[in-house]
Amino acid sequence: LLTTPAVAAADSVVNIAHRGASAYAPENTIAAFELAASMGADVFELDVQETKDHELVLMHDATLSRTTDVERVYPALAPWNVGDLTLAQIRRLDAGSWRSGDYDDERVPTLGEALRAMSGSGLGLLLEVKEPERYPGIEARIAAELRRNPGWLAGSRVVVQSFDWGSMREFHGLLPDVPIGLLGTPSAAELPGLADFADQINPPHASLTAAYVRRVHGLGMEVLAWTADTPDAMRRLLGYDVDGIITNRPDLLDDLLSG
Ligand code: G3P
Ligand code: CA
Repeated sequence: LLTTPAVAAADSVVNIAHRGASAYAPENTIAAFELAASMGADVFELDVQETKDHELVLMHDATLSRTTDVERVYPALAPWNVGDLTLAQIRRLDAGSWRSGDYDDERVPTLGEALRAMSGSGLGLLLEVKEPERYPGIEARIAAELRRNPGWLAGSRVVVQSFDWGSMREFHGLLPDVPIGLLGTPSAAELPGLADFADQINPPHASLTAAYVRRVHGLGMEVLAWTADTPDAMRRLLGYDVDGIITNRPDLLDDLLSG
């Protein structure tokens, strides 16, 4: 990402592990982030939401059902939305056993726990604010958590991204030095206005074209494409001169880049 030391040194496309090395380990857990580091990723991506008591936790889906044992532990709390449980309740959940492997001990991490666990890794962080309209004020709470972990800010190791561009404009106002990524594929007419506060445009890879990448580059922004898990898809994106590839298989991308 723009100024991440690991990236500046890499002199090639940035290898971003989507929810950690999530092809192999339970997504959005510390185990998945540590595995990504061991597989040659430059950056790990994660999804942030809020608990009922306004704590920041890592979860992709709107509910806890797919990636934890919440339905067994709290049968009365259907439909198990992230924002319906307190942090104390979420801490009791098993966030690893749904994946095969030795991940029974994995819990749903808080953002602070992930920042502390990965502070010495040297990796950058691509932090997605997931559905911020569900959580009024989440931008300020994320900014405060980053300020509590100043190593990430001082080392320019964080980019914040969202599908909600208004939320990202607001976040830019809170922490203007943190680069901003916009998820999706803004139109040619929209791009110049977005360049006022965004540093990256991060589209789904399948519909991406070389011309679109050139257009974004022409406005001084970077392109990170998601989520590419096959050598063919990765090679196509490299041909488009993207700045980063978001993948569930950072080991595969690392092999391709070093091969
Ligand atoms: O980082 C890009 C990607 O994570 C966006 O989609 O649904 O996997 O969060 P999603
Ligand atoms: Ca994400």
